[in-house]
Amino acid sequence: MAGRIPQEFINDLVDRADIVEILSNRIQLKKAGREYKACCPFHNEKTPSFTVSPDKGFYHCFGCGAHGTVVGFLMEHDRLEFVEAIEELASFYGLEVPRENSRGSTAPVSPSAPLLELLSQAGELYREQLRETPAAIDYLKQRGLTGQTAADFGIGYAPPGWDFVLKKLGGTDDKRDDLLKAGLLTRNEDGRIYDRFRGRIMFPIRDSRGRVVGFGGRVTDDGEPKYLNSPETPVFHKGRELYGLYEARQIERNPERLLVVEGYMDVVALAEHGISNAVATLGTATTAEHLQRLFRVTREIVFCFDGDAAGRKAAWRALQISLPELRDGRQVKFLFLADGEDPDSVVRAGGAAEFQARLAASQPLSEYLIEHLKEATDLSSLDGQARLAELARPLISSIPEGVFRELLLDKLAGEVGLSAARLGALLTDSAGRATAPVRPAAPARPTQPTAAAATGRNPLIRRAICLVLQQPAAAKGLELKAGLRELPNPGIALLIDLLEAAQENPDIKPARLADEQAAHPDGGSHLTALLLQDLHLEPSSDWSAELAETLDAILQQELQKRFQRLARKAASGLTEAEKQEMRALQQEIATLHSNKS
Ligand code: GTP
Ligand code: MN
Repeated sequence: MAGRIPQEFINDLVDRADIVEILSNRIQLKKAGREYKACCPFHNEKTPSFTVSPDKGFYHCFGCGAHGTVVGFLMEHDRLEFVEAIEELASFYGLEVPRENSRGSTAPVSPSAPLLELLSQAGELYREQLRETPAAIDYLKQRGLTGQTAADFGIGYAPPGWDFVLKKLGGTDDKRDDLLKAGLLTRNEDGRIYDRFRGRIMFPIRDSRGRVVGFGGRVTDDGEPKYLNSPETPVFHKGRELYGLYEARQIERNPERLLVVEGYMDVVALAEHGISNAVATLGTATTAEHLQRLFRVTREIVFCFDGDAAGRKAAWRALQISLPELRDGRQVKFLFLADGEDPDSVVRAGGAAEFQARLAASQPLSEYLIEHLKEATDLSSLDGQARLAELARPLISSIPEGVFRELLLDKLAGEVGLSAARLGALLTDSAGRATAPVRPAAPARPTQPTAAAATGRNPLIRRAICLVLQQPAAAKGLELKAGLRELPNPGIALLIDLLEAAQENPDIKPARLADEQAAHPDGGSHLTALLLQDLHLEPSSDWSAELAETLDAILQQELQKRFQRLARKAASGLTEAEKQEMRALQQEIATLHSNKS
């Protein structure tokens, strides 16, 4: 198993990467002053609002809000996982990605490594058992699977009996502990340990790198429960993993669309018929994390649900989960099958063509949403219209701003026979609930995130933060006055840490500096927004002098405030210490003044 990539390598790589060079291999960039512009690759637009700043090592789209570093771009645009993006970048610069070696280095071995090893060994044993169990092979054949598909999915068989895995892999106490942790063994109330999976067809669940992290097991008769899944373990999370995603990507890394079906057998039967882009959740509802993983790989997701009540309910839940992920360029559709059908039965009865035909008739999310809302309301009455607005409001406001949201609003307005403006008004003020307007009064284009919106802190402190953040080299050689460090104002701790980080590494790219300090408790999470703050400085300005002046101004302002507070109190008498402090303050303020001139 490959080891971790050293953080230092990642940092250096991102620092040396030229974001303009990498992006211009993928999109058409035009120079505009110190920056570059393009039509955003992440949403549809005719006039370019996608901006790349080579100095900051950062891109930002003022249309859809997409932003990030070169690594983030590769992940979004090329649909890569983080590690893949790093590998892509390294290979562009002809670099080998180093891996931390668990033997050679002192880095601790991942605690999940032994679990993954056991899961992989168990998968191998189950496959071996399948080959040796004609009845199990017959079961799979009778369900229409060929040996090739079974092999592609690594399907195996857990023999009946209580101690197959226990005997084969549980040789030591440590191993038994790990097998329990991996969910392969289980323990009854008496403390007896035995195999969790017995007499079942075994479907290994692989993570994005193809490592077995869990299993689903199906009985071959009508025993109960029909399916048994691995429990949640340190390496297996049902809310994250998707059955069949790894296998689908072996066929095509970035399929045009992915289908989300309900069962293991649906995924496998579709693949048997050449439809290799299906995945299944693991007997649980679809989560936002599932969707995010899928949208990293494809632009279109089709949910396939049974047409029964349970399927409808699951579909509506899936719709609600999908809305926040619907950035422009992404699509979600719904395919409802008849009661009693599932993709497996459809494809077995009518072949791939029948299933493709159903797929072609799947319903876009917007249509399903509107249909569902119309069913729930009586639009012939004013009450009904208000009720529809009431139902639509939380749904629409969870969609990211953009073309899709606008289109949906228009469509909804058309359907209910209202103007978009009237519906917009209903959405914002029906029932008098104070929610954010769906249609902002301002033009739809989101404004540049302002620092004031991000934080409520002192404008001078904010400006100093922006200065050092946007041009870390400006902090080079700057002397940090003790008085500054001692200020109690919010933002000072962050400012000082930024200054020190910048002095340590003046060549650091702004986006990375922001990333490094993002978890800073003194407002680090606002740094990304501050990267884009326009400081109204000329390119030729002396940022270093600007920063030094701003720092002095902060100090002076605070000293003066303190001085004035003491001066006001002087009328009612000061302690000796306070008098002394006043004199010291006067001195300091005078020094700052004389430095300035
Ligand atoms: P077949 O009957 O083999 O065609 O399976 P199916 O995939 O059509 O099963 P079904 O539609 O009944 O279930 C869909 C999915 O729900 C399965 O793939 C499992 O993930 C899950 N599931 C079904 N039955 C059970 C069960 O008894 N227990 C658990 N934990 N999950 C189940
Ligand atoms: Mn089925």
